[in-house]
Amino acid sequence: MRILITGAAGYIGSNAVAGLLQRGHEVHGLDDFRGGRPDAPQHLGVPFHALDAGDEDAIFALLQRESFDCVQHFAADVHVGASVRFPTATWENNVGTTTRLLSAIRRAGVPKFVFSSTCAVLGGSGSTPVREEDPFKPMSPYGSSKAACERLIEETVHAANAAGDNFSAAILRYFNVCGAGSGPFGEPVAGSGQDVRLSQVLLDVVHGRREHMTIFGTDYPTPDGTCVRDYIHVDDVVDAHAIVGDRLEPGQWCRYHVGTGKGTSVQQAVLAARQASRHPIPVILGDRRPGDAGSVMADSRSLQALGWTPAHSNFASMFASALNHPGVE
Ligand SMILES: NC(=O)c1ccc[n+]([C@@H]2O[C@H](COP(=O)([O-])OP(=O)(O)OC[C@H]3O[C@@H](n4cnc5c(N)ncnc54)[C@H](O)[C@@H]3O)[C@@H](O)[C@H]2O)c1
Repeated sequence: MRILITGAAGYIGSNAVAGLLQRGHEVHGLDDFRGGRPDAPQHLGVPFHALDAGDEDAIFALLQRESFDCVQHFAADVHVGASVRFPTATWENNVGTTTRLLSAIRRAGVPKFVFSSTCAVLGGSGSTPVREEDPFKPMSPYGSSKAACERLIEETVHAANAAGDNFSAAILRYFNVCGAGSGPFGEPVAGSGQDVRLSQVLLDVVHGRREHMTIFGTDYPTPDGTCVRDYIHVDDVVDAHAIVGDRLEPGQWCRYHVGTGKGTSVQQAVLAARQASRHPIPVILGDRRPGDAGSVMADSRSLQALGWTPAHSNFASMFASALNHPGVE
């Protein structure tokens, strides 16, 4: 397939470019570099378009010129904390951009669309493992903006079907993505003021950018009292995009959870990181943070039924992949 990847300078998008290229697809990247790696075009080695994914006329012209079979839309504002401070900016880039991009896609007649969503659309659902059909319960403007995109995509497919057009879309909800994948860049270092993933905190301590890590809450109803999350390696996320993009049938709308269904506690993650790095990783025990659920895991049986397996998603090996990544700094 000829595939356009938006957000191709970012963490997951750059790995998707590399992974889909390795699987024999023709891939173009697109990013406006409000985030991500400014040197991505140089290192990814694919045609690259420096464009805002929400610039409808420019995207329409690109889609008409290049005749893509599929657009995979990773570009977004991804930081939960920033979304709480600046909800309108998050909604503008996530919902506004996706609306204009979809409009360009429909005008140009691109048949397939794959969207990066998140378990944050279900953030407070309470049950675990969470299923695709559980009701939306976002706990941040980031989560609610992604939930709105999901609804918009579903409605767009239904409208296309009603008009007799050939358009299909898949929504992939990732759980906690980490690790260094087949792309050139490794796991990104978090910038100041950004949300920091657990793996990034652990890497920061090992690399001397922080003195210790804090465990927020040790009295959750989990086996060791610390929060449990479903960590998924970025290459397994890319694999899900490849499988689902290939399998999309004309007129289909579908939604999959991209997670292992298995949990790793913060305490287990620290132990795994100590083993992989041979660093003591000093820990401070802190209070619970408001809004953190005790345990969040994916029910990903639908995706596994398509032949997908989370082959790389063991926390120790994911952490080691990031720690030992030889790629571009
Ligand atoms: N990282 C995770 O753990 C995680 C979990 C669940 C879902 N997701 C989703 O995966 C996708 C990728 O996340 P990431 O971690 O790679 O983020 P990232 O911030 O590393 O990459 C996002 C990229 O999109 C680009 N971008 C943003 N708005 C744009 C626009 N309007 N036009 C063109 N480019 C634009 C940025 O410049 C950046 O390069 C996002 O949609 C995110 O919501 C990520």
